[in-house]
Amino acid sequence: MKKVGNHNSISRVLFLSLALLTFSFTSMAQDAAPAATAAPAADAAAAPAGGGDPVKGKELFNTNCAACHKLDGKSTGPALRNVADKHDKAWLVKWIHNSSEMIKAGDPVAVKLFNDNNKSVMTAFPQLSEGDIDNILAYTSQPAPAKSTTAAPPRTETAANAGGGISNNVILGALCVVMLILVVMLFMVNNVLTKVAKKNGLEIAEKPATTPIWVAFAKNQFLVLVTSIFLLLAAGYFFYGWAMQVGVDQNYEPVQPIHYSHRIHAGSNGIDCKYCHSAARVSKTAGIPSLNVCMNCHKNISEVSDTTATAEHSKAFYDGEIQKLYDAVGWDKAAQKYTGKTQPVKWVRIHNLPDFAYFNHSQHVTVAGIECQTCHGPVEEFELMKQFSPLTMGWCVDCHRKTDVKMEGNEYYTKIHEELSKKYGVDKLTAAQMGGLECGKCHY
Ligand code: HEC
Ligand code: HEC
Ligand code: HEC
Ligand code: HEC
Ligand code: HEC
Ligand code: HEC
Repeated sequence: MKKVGNHNSISRVLFLSLALLTFSFTSMAQDAAPAATAAPAADAAAAPAGGGDPVKGKELFNTNCAACHKLDGKSTGPALRNVADKHDKAWLVKWIHNSSEMIKAGDPVAVKLFNDNNKSVMTAFPQLSEGDIDNILAYTSQPAPAKSTTAAPPRTETAANAGGGISNNVILGALCVVMLILVVMLFMVNNVLTKVAKKNGLEIAEKPATTPIWVAFAKNQFLVLVTSIFLLLAAGYFFYGWAMQVGVDQNYEPVQPIHYSHRIHAGSNGIDCKYCHSAARVSKTAGIPSLNVCMNCHKNISEVSDTTATAEHSKAFYDGEIQKLYDAVGWDKAAQKYTGKTQPVKWVRIHNLPDFAYFNHSQHVTVAGIECQTCHGPVEEFELMKQFSPLTMGWCVDCHRKTDVKMEGNEYYTKIHEELSKKYGVDKLTAAQMGGLECGKCHY
């Protein structure tokens, strides 16, 4: 009769774990469900107003007007969305063909507009036909896609997170639970089996006592000696590795006060490194550009294009970073002028040789003609700047041993080259043979 009881306890355990399993899987399914049903709302693209062609208008607008106008928000000129509702057609044609003439002639609307906009002069466009202007106005009369563009990026982001991140975690959790159940079951089954065996009067053979392995090991002096030598060597090796990393900040990537992306500037927009780091050509340091350099472009660029946003960073995020630049230089985007209220941007320095080492950019960039990327890596792909090379002495010396000095077209070297190439009996000299290994060249 007691056997029945034992049988019962096994089946109870099995039932319990089955229930737990199904529970964990249903909870996983529930988590996945909302992500799947959250389908994006259809973009309701309303039909454009007016007789012109908004597609052609957009093209004309971008080539002729975008330098000074945006559809929404002030630039050099006022926002142009729905400007066709503000003035009649004949007035607009006259204005676009030659606004200065209208102002001179004393047209009251034109004069007021001119005074309201800091007396900036708008370019005259006599070459635009009435048809062209119709097209432009059709483009400016298109309804703003405001809601869908501003609300969409955050929503897709959270949806992606819910779909990828959480369900992965849930699966992991479920697997852990299953493993745990299996372990518990094994343990209980083992217990039950021993109980059954005991009840039935079976003897479970005890293992004969042997000397534990560590006692045997301790008694063998040769083994102990070899092992301790091995351990000492390994410790020494790891200590050396650790000690060599002291002061080496390879891949150091601090968070900067403005999320400035080299990928977007030097990569997608192809801006030359030396436009911003102009000192690299002529002096020891490469320098970080002052914010005035940024404003050469950013007076007009207050937002990134839609295609710049990535899965990681939305357009709203990037636009917010440009706003930080404006706050720092005190630029009022709406009024298009400086307020005079500035605050410095404290960039975090990344590359930093110790004070006892001397490194000169112009020697390497201008004289040796080495690309920035040789030392700084594929900067045009870095979303955030980081230290690519180790900047150790071994790194400098290695390159000096391997790299030939560029002699052609450098008068300064002609004489030295003749003497040294005789001395070493070679055609080409490495930086090392030129003196690039002398301690004093790099150490004060
Ligand atoms: C060089 C800069 C510049 C360019 C290029 C430019 N504009 Fe303007 N626009 C202005 C300024 C500045 C004003 C405000 C009036 C003033 O100060 O003369 C203005 C005003 C206007 C207005 C009146 C807006 C209102 O709110 O009443 C219209 C319409 C207009 N521009 C259309 C255009 C069109 C269309 C183009 C392209 C074909 C264009 N502009 C190109 C600078 C420019
Ligand atoms: C539009 C201006 C601009 C351009 C173009 C640009 N940079 Fe920079 N660079 C900056 C600014 C601002 C910083 C400081 C912020 C940072 O570290 O991200 C910086 C930082 C750096 C640093 C790290 C400085 C430190 O703190 O140690 C390196 C290296 C660098 N740039 C190399 C390059 C190279 C190589 C290129 C060309 C592929 C390039 N930059 C193009 C503006 C620019
Ligand atoms: C030669 C022109 C130019 C200069 C100089 C320039 N930028 Fe930009 N910047 C751009 C353009 C163009 C974009 C928009 C890119 C896009 O939409 O693809 C941009 C985008 C940005 C963004 C948003 C994307 C990002 O990188 O996070 C920030 C922030 C920014 N700039 C900051 C700066 C700062 C700070 C400086 C000065 C060190 C600077 N820019 C100098 C042209 C320039
Ligand atoms: C031969 C290797 C090498 C080349 C080539 C090189 N750099 Fe550097 N760069 C360094 C080293 C090393 C440092 C650290 C210097 C220090 O801390 O004194 C550095 C530091 C910098 C810094 C930050 C500190 C400073 O000096 O202002 C910037 C910015 C920079 N480099 C930009 C550039 C740009 C842009 C180019 C290409 C025109 C370039 N580098 C080419 C090795 C190099
Ligand atoms: C990518 C290769 C490269 C790296 C990395 C490099 N150098 Fe150089 N270096 C050169 C070359 C090539 C020259 C020879 C330039 C010339 O024509 O004078 C040179 C020249 C020099 C000189 C002048 C030597 C002389 O005889 O006058 C000094 C000093 C120097 N490097 C220091 C450094 C230091 C410090 C580092 C490390 C932080 C370093 N270099 C890293 C390639 C490199
Ligand atoms: C090509 C340039 C260069 C030459 C030549 C050079 N050094 Fe260095 N040395 C460096 C740099 C760069 C560092 C800093 C490395 C770091 O921060 O990890 C350094 C660091 C050191 C250190 C500090 C320990 C360390 O590794 O950080 C000592 C000591 C030293 N050098 C001695 C010498 C002696 C002695 C010579 C001549 C035989 C020499 N160096 C030649 C560039 C050079």
